[in-house]
Amino acid sequence: MCGIVGAVAERNVQGILLEGLKRLEYRGYDSAGMAVLDLQGHLQRGRALGKVAALEERLTREPLPGRCGIAHTRWATHGRPSEQNAHPHQSGERLAVVHNGIIENHEALRRELEAEGYVFTSETDTEVIAHLLERESRQAGDLLAAVRRVLDRLDGAYALGVIHAEEPDVVIGARKGSPLIVGVGIDEAFVASDPLALLQVTDRFIYLQEGDAVRLSAGGRIEVFDATGLPVEREIQVFEHGDGAASKGDYRHFMLKEIHEQPMVIAAALEGRLGERSALVESFGPEAEALFRQASQVHIVACGTSYHAGMVARYWLERYAGIPVQVEVASEYRYRQVVVPEGTLFVTLSQSGETADTLAALRFARERGYLASLAICNVPGSSLVRESDLTLMTQAGPEIGVASTKAFTTQLTALMLLTLALGRVKGLDERVQADLVTALRGLPGLVARVLELDPEIEALSMAFAEKHHALFLGRGALFPIALEGALKLKEISYIHAEAYPAGELKHGPLALVDSEMPVISVAPNDELLDKLKSNLQEVRARGGELFVFADEGVGLEEADGIRVIHLPHVHEALAPILYTLPLQLLSYHVAVLKGTDVDQPRNLAKSVTVE
Ligand code: F6R
Repeated sequence: MCGIVGAVAERNVQGILLEGLKRLEYRGYDSAGMAVLDLQGHLQRGRALGKVAALEERLTREPLPGRCGIAHTRWATHGRPSEQNAHPHQSGERLAVVHNGIIENHEALRRELEAEGYVFTSETDTEVIAHLLERESRQAGDLLAAVRRVLDRLDGAYALGVIHAEEPDVVIGARKGSPLIVGVGIDEAFVASDPLALLQVTDRFIYLQEGDAVRLSAGGRIEVFDATGLPVEREIQVFEHGDGAASKGDYRHFMLKEIHEQPMVIAAALEGRLGERSALVESFGPEAEALFRQASQVHIVACGTSYHAGMVARYWLERYAGIPVQVEVASEYRYRQVVVPEGTLFVTLSQSGETADTLAALRFARERGYLASLAICNVPGSSLVRESDLTLMTQAGPEIGVASTKAFTTQLTALMLLTLALGRVKGLDERVQADLVTALRGLPGLVARVLELDPEIEALSMAFAEKHHALFLGRGALFPIALEGALKLKEISYIHAEAYPAGELKHGPLALVDSEMPVISVAPNDELLDKLKSNLQEVRARGGELFVFADEGVGLEEADGIRVIHLPHVHEALAPILYTLPLQLLSYHVAVLKGTDVDQPRNLAKSVTVE
């Protein structure tokens, strides 16, 4: 969390840094700040509590012109949101630091530095880095050497940007455990937490690796050093998604734009990965086929929405590939004494590829004798992708809205491809494979049809604006979709929502049902439909108001206390993907009615790079 951007150029970098912060705001938005070395080589800083707009306003009054600078948008971990805790942090008047991540040994370092007379002005862990740098830069030969000495003292995760008046045209960047990329310009160079921050100035990037440090200097000079301090060449990659992702276009929010992109990105996730009648196993890499043949179990690990995608995959993989599957949230998995049966494939799911718990789970798994690791991820070059044996990119394009939408449905699409690939090597009936392939090809069109229901769903959302609670019900592979629906409603509208497998209701939660409790259910035409209908009757009998998204052919009609929105018929296996959409739209419209900050809901951040 937190976003970093830094620049060295022959022009004023204030605008570049500010635009970078706006594009990184999804990573944290409780305060923002900027430090530059002005044309006289003096360090100047501006900080503001609140969103980047507050900093922008301040910079209009008190500009920070300079050709070399760093900036930061914060998601508070140590110390409340305040101007004093906002980055950049300084030690004296000559150096400034921005930091993303957590320094675990900051208390011990703080005591050490205080004993030496350093005075702390913030509650952050980052400030120890500033003071350590001040101390080390008096002894080290140059700024990079000083940063290296400081890094040796830090435990935890970080991405850093540093400037010092002593070297007025240099920005140093370093990363361990948090992402940092280098933007390659023409006679100018940049660092940032994510390429999106820099798409206005370049589309060429170097993805720094664990332990790397970089020195950017005048004339666009970029020198990368690996964890041992040796100079290394890192490949320059061209960003392929264009800059459209960074703008909302005609949509009111990024979330709505991203919801409407789903037909296109699901098609992109399928492109080149389906044969005539089966999935192409080699989409997972040249070694995939041999590894998949040996796979006798699958462990899936992820967080949040990505975890819900994993839960759906369990139903699919067990049914179509006949493989036992365990799914677990990464923050629990990584601290368990996991028993790994021989031949187990380890699968991580992540939009960002930088989620600290998921990454730590992968590193933990690498020591546990798994057959291989597969990352299903949306960000090329992310840590998860680089550290996994096999990868499948979800092709959703940058997702800016904090609430995951298109990332989730493309993860599900990718997981269906995994199901088909494993099914194929495990001898899944060829007709079943062909049917699923045909259904997948038709999926983007069906998704587009569901999006046409938007006005109906918007009208339905009025019933929720005054509610304080909601229950979501689903059965089978639609239970995780109910969980995802509840998560979406919670995170963007702040309405308390719970999800249950519909059959579980009578074991307790039914006690919550009364006329004040809206109950939302997803009812595709599958083998559990009759059982679901009985569960819905149980709700109705207790006066609960029902909102059902149902297959057009299931014979569920509107009645007193039951609102029904019909979805087009879909292959039962793909229902989890299709039924996600109305729940996304419902949450979106409820949040808009409630006037919340849809794209940047309170207390959250897009990329959770702290434990
Ligand atoms: C919810 C949401 C989060 C993420 C979770 C994992 O809308 O976006 O729950 O799914 O933080 O993030 P990734 O997928 O980047 O690992």
